Amino acid sequence: MTTPATPGAFDAIRMQAAQIGLFETPILHGRLTGGETLTAQLAQAIRARRDAADSLARSNVGGWHSATDMLDWGGPAAAKLADFAVKTAIRMSHFDGRDARSLNWEVKMWANISPPGALNMSHAHPGVLWAAVYYVDMGTPPSGDDAGGELFFEDPRFPVPLMRMPGFRMLGIDGQPQVNERRWPTQAGDLVLFPAWLRHGVRPHAGAGERISVAMNIDVRG
Ligand SMILES: [Fe+2]
Repeated sequence: MTTPATPGAFDAIRMQAAQIGLFETPILHGRLTGGETLTAQLAQAIRARRDAADSLARSNVGGWHSATDMLDWGGPAAAKLADFAVKTAIRMSHFDGRDARSLNWEVKMWANISPPGALNMSHAHPGVLWAAVYYVDMGTPPSGDDAGGELFFEDPRFPVPLMRMPGFRMLGIDGQPQVNERRWPTQAGDLVLFPAWLRHGVRPHAGAGERISVAMNIDVRG
């Protein structure tokens, strides 16, 4: 049997608390400068390949998705892009007892061409450390604020609270409700690197013309 509290006995108790944010998800958003020729050569190689090879069906809805062998047909521009991607992955990686620069990095690369209306469903890239995407051509955005076609990331944390009460949000350390999906605007020449397990997709291309991007899986062998 518990002892009933004396009225007012707890009134002087106060709590001090500090909020912390744990387990951040690192994403690197880079932009090539002086990369116009490289980007133009990528576009040329990708369009030529599209004319010669069938599309794979992956996360893409509409549009053309190459096989993951772009380093075999993408020429020196694709090799240079892979080099940039590995350098960014090294910059974002730590290995206990090993220098990230000394490891045997490998890149699988493929291309996407998205006509108006095409999109990529939410997905992850299992089995590798990092995923990256390079934007070759954004097409022509529509007039208005909503350009469409943005890369988006989903909150990878436990989804059940959202399923039970969709309007619930945890407050972040900035005091603001945390989002469960984050759109990430990009432009031609941008390279975005993110953990391969982070679910992501591409909203429908709402503008005109073709959008071209290059995706990469980046991993360490052995
Ligand atoms: Fe992807």
